[in-house]
Formats: sequence, C-alpha cells, structure tokens
Amino acid sequence: MAPETAINGSAPIRITVLGATGSIGKSLADLIERNPEQFDVVALIANTNASELAQMARRLNASAAILADASRLNDLREALNGTSVEAGAGEGAILEAVDRDADLIVGAIVGSAGLKPTMTAIKPGRRIALANKECLVCAGDLFMAGIRQSGAELLPVDSEHNAIFQVFENDQADQIEKVILTASGGPFRTFSKADMAGVTPEQALKHPNWDMGARITIDSATMMNKGFEVIEAFHLFPIAHEQLGVLVHPQSAVHGLVQYKDGSLLAQLGSPDMRTPISHCLAFPRRMEVPVKRLDLAELGTLTFEAPDLDRFPALRLALEALKSANAAPAALNAADEVAVEAFLSRKIGFLDIPAAVEAVLENLSAGGQLAVSESIDDVLALDLEARAKTADWINSGRNLC
Ligand SMILES: NC(=O)c1ccc[n+]([C@@H]2O[C@H](COP(=O)([O-])OP(=O)(O)OC[C@H]3O[C@@H](n4cnc5c(N)ncnc54)[C@H](OP(=O)(O)O)[C@@H]3O)[C@@H](O)[C@H]2O)c1
Repeated sequence: MAPETAINGSAPIRITVLGATGSIGKSLADLIERNPEQFDVVALIANTNASELAQMARRLNASAAILADASRLNDLREALNGTSVEAGAGEGAILEAVDRDADLIVGAIVGSAGLKPTMTAIKPGRRIALANKECLVCAGDLFMAGIRQSGAELLPVDSEHNAIFQVFENDQADQIEKVILTASGGPFRTFSKADMAGVTPEQALKHPNWDMGARITIDSATMMNKGFEVIEAFHLFPIAHEQLGVLVHPQSAVHGLVQYKDGSLLAQLGSPDMRTPISHCLAFPRRMEVPVKRLDLAELGTLTFEAPDLDRFPALRLALEALKSANAAPAALNAADEVAVEAFLSRKIGFLDIPAAVEAVLENLSAGGQLAVSESIDDVLALDLEARAKTADWINSGRNLC
C-alpha cells in the first residue's frame, strides 16, 4: 500500500511542469521543495533557460528536463552532468514527456506556445492545473471539449479563477447571477492617457502587488490581462458572458466574487502570492501548509473598489468585444498582443500602441473574414501566425495595414 501523504492521502503525486523556469514554475518549485516526500517529479519543461532548468531538476530530483529550444540541448546536458536526470529538447521531446505517466500536469508556459503541449497533456484520470490562460483565450471551446471528453480534471491556477472556483457552487450554477473578477488596475491605474503615452517598459514592469513574468505584467498594466481573464472565466464556469464583471480593487486582497440570486456575495481573499492558488490545485480537495504572509485585514484597514475605465484601458474593451463576437477573435487578440507587448518591451512602440496594434489587426482580420470559428488547434495556430504577421507589419510599416 502506498504511503500516506498530507496532500492527497495516498502515494506521492507524479507531476510534470510545463514552464518550470517561469514565475509560476518557481512558486510551484518552492512548494515541492518544502514537501519533497509528497511529489515525484516526472518532467520539467522550459524554453531556452538550460542552467535554471538543470538547477531546478537537481533540486527537485526530477526524472527528466526538456527544453523547447533544441539548440540548447548540449548546454542542458552539460548542466546536468553527474546526475541521472534525462535531458531532452525540441517539440517532439516535450510532447513525449507530457505523454509519460503523471497524475498532475501544471500548464505554466507563457503564450500560445503552451497550446499544443497543454492540449496533449489532457488525458483520462489526470489533473491539469492550468496557469497558461492562452489555452482558454485562444482555444477555449476546443480545450474544454478535450477536458470533458477525456474526463480529466481541470483546476484553475490563475488567482481570480481559483478564487471563483473556491466559491462557485457548481450544483447551484442556476442560482448564480454574477461572477466578478477583481483587477489591481496595475501601475497606471490613476494615469491619464497622455501620461500613459510616455511610460517606459521599466515603469510598466513594476506591478504594484504581484510578482509575475514580463508578459503578464505588461498585460496587467494595459488591463488586457483582465480581458483575457474574463474570456478564461467564460470557458471555465457555466455562465453567460453578460454575467461576468470586472471590479478594480487596488489592494488585491479580494481575488474573485460570486453573487447568488438571494443577494449573497461570496468572495475569496488572501495575500497576493501565487503559492496559495497553486497549492490549492496541488492539494485539492484538501489544503496544504503554505508560508504566505497572512492577510491582516485590520492592518490593511480599507478595501476599495471601482469600475474599470474602458476609455483609458481600451485593451480591456477589445477583449470584452472579442468574447462577445463569438468567433475566433480571442486567438487573434492574444497573438497580436503577444507581438505588441514584445515590441513595447524592446522599445519599438509606445505603451498605447499595444492596444492600437491589437485593434488594427482585429479590424483587418475581421474585414477579411478571417475570424471564422476555429474547428481545430491547427486552425487556431494558423490564425495565431497570421495575426502575428499582421501585427509585425503594423509595427514595421508605420502603423498601416493593407
Ligand atoms: N506569474 C503569475 O503570477 C501568473 C498568474 C496567473 C496566470 N499566469 C499565467 O501563467 C503562464 C506563465 O506565466 P509566468 O508569469 O510564469 O511566465 P514567465 O515567468 O514568463 O515564464 C514562462 C515559462 O514558459 C517557458 N516557455 C516559454 N515559451 C516556451 C515554449 N515555447 N516551450 C516551452 N516552454 C516555454 C519559459 O521557459 P524559459 O525560462 O526557458 O524561457 C518559462 O518557464 C502565463 O500564461 C500567464 O498568463 C501567471
């Protein structure tokens, strides 16, 4: 009989992590290191960061470490020298590693690059802890159909969705009036549009409350991230898009709320530390000890809420419109945003050009009839490529698209 563990009451959890070297991956690694007897790390997967991946594989005693970038395989092998950790690289190696027996797959690659490996991870009897929001933004219907057909269990890592998951009574879904996601408002919450026009990547990367990867931090500053999260919530929970709302809440103490038809508003609160929602996915339906700062409401004193300003934050409006369009617009929205965020980070465009680029690309694709509903992941990936190319054109050709 397998030994008892505090987390799942049975054998160690066999875990594979997609995006192990990122912000989510590192928070997860911290939880594994604190509970080594509870986990058996099957594979750790990253993009190019050979030394970080190898160090993590050593610390977590992983069986395999895989990079997407095949040109870094020798670096990875060297960094793993003297260990029994198997090294691999390339898309085939990632998909093969994801296929290996595991109880839990954590999807924490950033961007639409996470789509194929995370979809491949969906298998009967598995738990998928999903941080890669792009799976739901770009291919929500296909992803959720895969989850339903396989019988795999999907748990949301994103703090707002994890919060809503904790207070969303599935057997009372018809009693729910509204689901509300909170947003910190980011570093430019009080800035005018004129002020935002001149902000630098350094300013935009300084999130007031959360410590996250670069792309999601910039998306938080434009509020595109909140738009992505509304799309995510639409796919994760049995609700209509009209029932989804956003509240700006600068203290980031309340992460999500569910309003029932009797007027009750249930919320989940906690410190802004991703180890809480990640641990919830690891231990569900139990809880595990997590050394996050406890939320001291007396110390905090005041919690404030305000409506989002769609004029100053047009990225949120674009995402809400993409969801309402009920076509493939969210996949194009994400791809255009990924390219525009990279261009902003490399100082090719200004902060307000991010939503401007996304809007121009969506209008162009819509006018060309290219936003038909995607029937397959290949359709999604083809649209992703097209939207990327158009965004690059917009950036490189003086903000024009033909
Ligand atoms: N950070 C948060 O607090 C947070 C909260 C909620 C949701 N999320 C979502 O979680 C996901 C990860 O966010 P993050 O902030 O952790 O991102 P991050 O810090 O930028 O890390 C991204 C991870 O993905 C890996 N990666 C990138 N491209 C890859 C590819 N083609 N193949 C395999 N691995 C690849 C990176 O590897 P390298 O290190 O080798 O580049 C890294 O491990 C995003 O979808 C984000 O929106 C994040």
